[in-house]
Amino acid sequence: MTQTFHEPSPTPALMLLGERRDPLSERGVDCPGALPSASDPDLVERARAAKEALGDRVFILGHHYQRDEVIQFADVTGDSFKLARDAAARPEAEFIVFCGVHFMAESADILTTDDQAVVLPDMAAGCSMADMANINQVDDAWAQLEEAGVASRTVPVTYMNSTAAIKAFCGEHGGVVCTSSNAEVALRWAFDQVGGVEGDGKVLFLPDQHLGRNTAVIQLGMELGDCVVWDPRKPLGGNTPEALEKARMILWKGHCSVHGRFRRSHVDDFRAKVPGINVLVHPECAHEVVTAADYVGSTEYIIKTLDAAEPGSAWVIGTELNLVRRVANAHPDKEVHFLEDTVCFCSTMNRIDLPHLVWALESLVAGEVPNRIVVDDETQRLARIALDRMLALPALHPAKD
Ligand code: 13P
Ligand code: SF4
Repeated sequence: MTQTFHEPSPTPALMLLGERRDPLSERGVDCPGALPSASDPDLVERARAAKEALGDRVFILGHHYQRDEVIQFADVTGDSFKLARDAAARPEAEFIVFCGVHFMAESADILTTDDQAVVLPDMAAGCSMADMANINQVDDAWAQLEEAGVASRTVPVTYMNSTAAIKAFCGEHGGVVCTSSNAEVALRWAFDQVGGVEGDGKVLFLPDQHLGRNTAVIQLGMELGDCVVWDPRKPLGGNTPEALEKARMILWKGHCSVHGRFRRSHVDDFRAKVPGINVLVHPECAHEVVTAADYVGSTEYIIKTLDAAEPGSAWVIGTELNLVRRVANAHPDKEVHFLEDTVCFCSTMNRIDLPHLVWALESLVAGEVPNRIVVDDETQRLARIALDRMLALPALHPAKD
């Protein structure tokens, strides 16, 4: 069976393109003390020994985009929705080591008790999409929407991939958090607060324009013309007051640097090359890619879809490369391809490697809590409102099934 993969490069392509927009200094110094060498042959044994020494005091969460060398030590793996629930459901663990990115660890801190410490093994593991919206820009956008007379009919909805401050903004302004697993139900809930999907209420969707557009058009049946993009660098987000008045979805101008690389032409090329191939993509991809796909859903959905696929079936997957490679290795009886033809790791997810995990675990064994993620009390209180609204939402739906 064909598997078209590129092996990890020591310097992922996105890093070369300068994907990270915020310097390390914004999140504090990385790894004070001794970071083990990547060539240390005992790293696996050191991680195993430290984890064993910590026992039930530590709970390790691993996002599906993490490297295999890290995932092997995760107590649970999942998409960002599942990991948020799993973190909340583990009050007995003293330390939550989050192998994912900064916004996920913040959410875990909000959803866990004050006695639990959430640790991010590398403080530079951020998210380029989350960095595309900061709270000052969002406050400013809201003030402009108030002035334009539309804020009172607008509900803010933020994708999980956003700062705790933006989640708090949503909690404070009657909004909700969503993930790629539940964007449809979250949007329906939001529109219900302002007269329903058929009414004239609006959603301000942060920070991923693609997830917002894909969900509104494909799952809620809106028109592309119902959506406007809000560019935080322009007055009124680059819109006229009339366009804002008419819009149903106000989409923040943010995107994922990884999923933004997939194109409609990649789908067309695979369909021409492999007749009958199934196209499965993440909803962070552009609308032209999602509409051309057969199946669309979160990382957890992608894994489940391949688990349920017929032996011998052919698949091409548009999401982060660590996950696609893992899925392909787990299914040698299926033909699995990667949708892009260049390296497509999430460079910030990849910052969490075995040396960082060993360093974090051994620090905990030594009685130090490294890289603790702490969200201040007021931000926690407000963000928790928006997160709890999300956790209370009913069943999950993939975008296309
Ligand atoms: P999910 O795991 O929720 O599908 O999200 C993908 C992602 O980009 C996480 O950053
Ligand atoms: Fe952020 Fe994209 Fe990486 Fe997810 S894959 S953490 S959205 S940059």
